[in-house]
Amino acid sequence: MNSTINTFINHRSIRQYKDNPIEAEKLDAIIKAVHHAPTSINGQQVSVIVVTDKEKKSKVAEYTGGQTWIDQAPVFLLFVMDYHRAHLAAKLNGENLVITESIESIMVGSVDVGIALGTAIGAAESLGLGTVPIGGVRKSPEEMIALFELPELVYPVAGLVLGYPKDMSEMKPRIPLSIFKHDNAYNPDQSEALKAYDQQMSDYMVARTGGESNRNWSQGVAGTYKFVYFPKVYPTLKQQGFENAK
Ligand SMILES: Cc1cc2nc3c(=O)[nH]c(=O)nc-3n(C[C@H](O)[C@H](O)[C@H](O)COP(=O)(O)O)c2cc1C
Repeated sequence: MNSTINTFINHRSIRQYKDNPIEAEKLDAIIKAVHHAPTSINGQQVSVIVVTDKEKKSKVAEYTGGQTWIDQAPVFLLFVMDYHRAHLAAKLNGENLVITESIESIMVGSVDVGIALGTAIGAAESLGLGTVPIGGVRKSPEEMIALFELPELVYPVAGLVLGYPKDMSEMKPRIPLSIFKHDNAYNPDQSEALKAYDQQMSDYMVARTGGESNRNWSQGVAGTYKFVYFPKVYPTLKQQGFENAK
């Protein structure tokens, strides 16, 4: 196809990094690419905190539940949902900021963060870097908010580890395209395709773990979603000024 498409198709998360720093020009290019990403109403409800401070990275590794790759890699990007600027815009115009009373603000901010995150992944991988997104930043949100001095209406949604890969790990198979792509209307009839995918994922896990695990896809998803794994998100969103009342 072309090198842009190939970069996306060859994606895999990297959890082993070399010591090499990232060249300043490469990091600047990644941030520039993210800076130009589209955002809802051009509100730019996203900011990026570039974390190179070793102590802060160690803290993030701890707060995310012991994710050692954050410590190991030279750079960690924290993507925050950011309505601080919208608050300033409202003030500049003598208006009230009402949208943050609604769950719509979380949708908008999370989509903006997602686009920024995906853009950073594509940009970094196109430059030969490895990445792994980190939703674990929402495990201990209070600590993350304090560590990065996030004001009201700013919330840590996701992070991204950046560095040179030590090993390229195997690409993880995806659900069959036949149940991912829907033509003109949604097709809920997916059970048989998922059974086949479960077998494929089980084989992948056996190969990846040297036989230690044969966990399939549905077991992983069912096990994760049987409880609210980040219970502090709701109360800390409220503390940061997102009411979620409408
Ligand atoms: C929003 C988001 C949050 C994620 N959070 C974590 C995380 O906290 N720790 C981690 O090791 N991987 C995390 N991942 C990586 C996923 O586990 C990974 O993308 C998925 O298993 C598919 O594997 P692949 O990226 O190697 O293709 C996250 C991915 C996304 C998109």
